[in-house]
Amino acid sequence: MSELINRQYYLAARPKAFPTPEEVPFRDVVVAEPGPEEVVIRNLYISLDPAIRGWMSDTPNYIEPIAINDPVRSSVIGRVVKSASDSFAEGDIVMTVGGWERYTTAPAAALNKIADMPGIALTNYLSVLGPTGLTAYFGILKVGLPKPGDTVLVSAAAGAVGSVVGQIAKMQGCRVVGMAGSEEKCRWLTEDLGFDEAINYKTCGDYQQAIQQACPEGVDIYFDNVGGEILDAALLCLNKFARVAVCGWISSYNDSDAPGPKNLWQLVAESVTIQGFVVLDYLDSFEEAIGQLAEWVMTDKIKFKEDIVDGLDNVLPAFMKLFNGTNDGKLVVRLEP
Ligand SMILES: NC(=O)c1ccc[n+]([C@@H]2O[C@H](COP(=O)([O-])OP(=O)(O)OC[C@H]3O[C@@H](n4cnc5c(N)ncnc54)[C@H](OP(=O)(O)O)[C@@H]3O)[C@@H](O)[C@H]2O)c1
Repeated sequence: MSELINRQYYLAARPKAFPTPEEVPFRDVVVAEPGPEEVVIRNLYISLDPAIRGWMSDTPNYIEPIAINDPVRSSVIGRVVKSASDSFAEGDIVMTVGGWERYTTAPAAALNKIADMPGIALTNYLSVLGPTGLTAYFGILKVGLPKPGDTVLVSAAAGAVGSVVGQIAKMQGCRVVGMAGSEEKCRWLTEDLGFDEAINYKTCGDYQQAIQQACPEGVDIYFDNVGGEILDAALLCLNKFARVAVCGWISSYNDSDAPGPKNLWQLVAESVTIQGFVVLDYLDSFEEAIGQLAEWVMTDKIKFKEDIVDGLDNVLPAFMKLFNGTNDGKLVVRLEP
């Protein structure tokens, strides 16, 4: 086979705010032959997740920061083009941790073969049946601990994680209120996904008042995807023994000087439990959860959206969509039409 050239977007410097093309430039390099038990895959899809912004910084995180000069790390789905492992053959479709690059070389042990299932698009393994669906599943069920009649407030509610959180909470008999950044997103939540109410946080004015109005009986579970001022307002609306599931703090990822929450005293005032989590905490239960999510998707109990952007060279502007709210569902870059 002729030489393969890999275009890679790599971390040249740690960003202070939203990453610039100077901090994340590209280079074209020759793909080395795979070593023993290594596999080369041609990437078909790259998952863009807010967490990647955290890995670009060198603050302590649940996995190592991306090293300077390494390709930007992300989950990828690709087709095996060269294999030095008996476990994988050319043409196999696999998912692994790769990068913002056309080809990824990975140890066979780090690859998961993806079964071609009727009615399930490959991208679904990055969204509702992948990391974001699983985050929603474990976050609401294992951290939020919903009970029938609870009021659940979800921020970034129209996003990949938030939209699934709300639908699972509805199935548990909860009243669900979502916060999202446009009228269109709010309509999707209430008209298509069955949320009881939605707050457009960009136009509602005072967050605390808006939450109190939408949750007249108070909030029993706050599923926090954003941190910042929305978290602070939500803390003032919690009921006795409420739970706060801290999933992400996207409002601060590009702002290292963002102020921390001021209203944590409410944890004492209302005997609240606050718990952060990462989806990897529940690795042992992934198989069972994927089975349940797949059943809900196939029976139309969970609806979801994917926002697929074409072209590796659009990866950085596409990544921006997560932070300005222009993504419409799980954000994925497609490398081949
Ligand atoms: N703990 C875990 O294991 C885990 C795993 C996956 C994801 N997460 C976290 O879950 C959250 C959602 O991730 P996702 O992949 O589902 O992304 P997403 O919700 O599909 O996209 C991000 C959304 O966040 C909203 N947003 C951006 N900046 C904001 C701000 N300053 N204030 C309020 N909302 C803002 C935008 O929606 P609007 O239009 O509504 O503003 C945007 O569409 C992130 O915090 C992420 O880090 C955690």
